[in-house]
Amino acid sequence: MSNTIIELTEFIKQLAHEAGLKLLELYKTQNPSEGKLRTSPKDMKLVEDKTIDQWLIERIKNKYPEHDILTEESGFLTGKNAKNILWIIDPIDGSVNFSTHNPFFAISLAIQINGALSIGVIEAPLLGEQFVAIKGEGAFVNNKHIHVSSINKLADAYIVSCDGGSKDRAKILNTLIKPFYNQVKDFKKLGSAALECAWVAAGRADAYITMQIDPWDVAAGVLLVQEAGGQVTTLKHEPWEVKQLDLLCSNGLLHEQILK
Ligand code: IPD
Ligand code: CA
Ligand code: CA
Repeated sequence: MSNTIIELTEFIKQLAHEAGLKLLELYKTQNPSEGKLRTSPKDMKLVEDKTIDQWLIERIKNKYPEHDILTEESGFLTGKNAKNILWIIDPIDGSVNFSTHNPFFAISLAIQINGALSIGVIEAPLLGEQFVAIKGEGAFVNNKHIHVSSINKLADAYIVSCDGGSKDRAKILNTLIKPFYNQVKDFKKLGSAALECAWVAAGRADAYITMQIDPWDVAAGVLLVQEAGGQVTTLKHEPWEVKQLDLLCSNGLLHEQILK
């Protein structure tokens, strides 16, 4: 590993850990009645989204003013001297879960260097889990190697899914759920795209499928699945990019069957 990657990995892991502790503090004091801010079944903006966002940006800018940053809450922030290093951040993935006291929420942090995903960290503070992926070095949960499952028949598969950015619920039902529901062992929604990727990487689910998902939701998760031995493509079999895309993350063995 290069010195740059070693230093960045140490920093991002510590940053995610501290952000997780901060988020836990906010979790203890937040009011579940924030639910009234719901604008759709999965769309909720919380003050905590902004608080963690600003905290992360300040920490990264202090240490690496030259890096670019893309976050769900603040959009694209250009670094002082472009170094072609981009942070892709979702300060809270699973805000609805967070606000309803469901523990499946996470902070998702990824770093792209020269256009290639290099490090991804998903911190799930209430689950006590930190998922880390480093390009070419593997995927880990709490410093232990993880690997995708070896399930090779759809009939045995657990599929996780989220709606992604699409607001067309009929289309979501027809594209993501109906074709699979009768064919798989079970179909689950965790309510956090980042954790759904992490579940595939850790072999807790066999595939994750979604539509028009934003890059901050899945950037860390994409690298995690790849480094855990899985496969990631769009539903048209194209490589993932930093934009809103339909996405399939799988253990590799089920990929073609699902795309069919
Ligand atoms: C959402 C979650 C959810 C997914 C949505 C995302 P947020 O992220 O990942 O599972 O269905 O598409 O926007 O809003 O909680 O950061
Ligand atoms: Ca998200
Ligand atoms: Ca978010």
